[in-house]
Amino acid sequence: MASSFVAKGADVYDSYVGRWSRKLAQPFMDFAGLADRERVLEIGCGTGSLTFAMPARANIAAIEAIDYEAQFVAAARERNSDPRINIQRGDASSLQFSDGQFDRALSMLVLHFVPDADRAVAEMRRVVRPGGVAAATVWDNFGGQPGIRMFWDTLAAIEPQADVRRSAFLIIPTNRPQELANSFSKAGFVDVTESELSVRMEFANFDDYWIPLMAGQGTQAAYLESPPGETRQRIMTAVRNAYLAGQPDGPRSFVSVAWAARGTIPRP
Ligand SMILES: C[S@@+](CC[C@H](N)C(=O)[O-])C[C@H]1O[C@@H](n2cnc3c(N)ncnc32)[C@H](O)[C@@H]1O
Repeated sequence: MASSFVAKGADVYDSYVGRWSRKLAQPFMDFAGLADRERVLEIGCGTGSLTFAMPARANIAAIEAIDYEAQFVAAARERNSDPRINIQRGDASSLQFSDGQFDRALSMLVLHFVPDADRAVAEMRRVVRPGGVAAATVWDNFGGQPGIRMFWDTLAAIEPQADVRRSAFLIIPTNRPQELANSFSKAGFVDVTESELSVRMEFANFDDYWIPLMAGQGTQAAYLESPPGETRQRIMTAVRNAYLAGQPDGPRSFVSVAWAARGTIPRP
């Protein structure tokens, strides 16, 4: 299996994660760097949150964007009007590009879905030229996602067995401090740095928090597919109480933190 990601369509993705990954693209580009005339590879472009933000940052020569999900590739292609951007299917673990052909390789919110993340990082190293840079970022599910943890912690307090599913969400590969950076060092990158990036997830009201969460491809939606209606209702009421915190329904804002690592390909 090349990907553990479960896709449920581009629109569902955009309302669930895409709206936050578009925000994360900005600090990620600050961290990863971009320069005019570069050839850039993006791994796991999804519906294009980072892809379409890059040309606004630098006068890029070309962007090759790949994703494992054919439906996301199709949606991103449909949205693309920039002839410098080429979007196609591909697998992070086995890139279809020859050695050293990119100046930079970027991957946003992807490596924790790739069963062998070390192999994907090694592939990034292979296709970037000596002196070039690769960077990746993944959410810090354990310590940096209070908005999503609110769902799981509430659930685990009221539902037997839910703590097992909570652990599966919280403990994922590449997600512990220094894990991404270690992967870059193991692959032979030099000047490896790890940092944290943060954006805020802003919700207009509880429905704006709950509906995309339940419709999305996340583990939360998967969990709520199985229990009977009254259990779902009880869970929603408990999560709603946590969201409201005794105040009237309305906007709430949650910080959302991602780990990010970058490294340089050594020159011979
Ligand atoms: C959370 S989405 C992130 C998409 C986009 N980068 C963004 O930030 O909105 C994860 C993406 O990783 C892709 N993915 C997972 N495993 C992959 C693999 N082995 N090769 C390429 N893409 C993969 C999924 O298809 C999905 O589009």
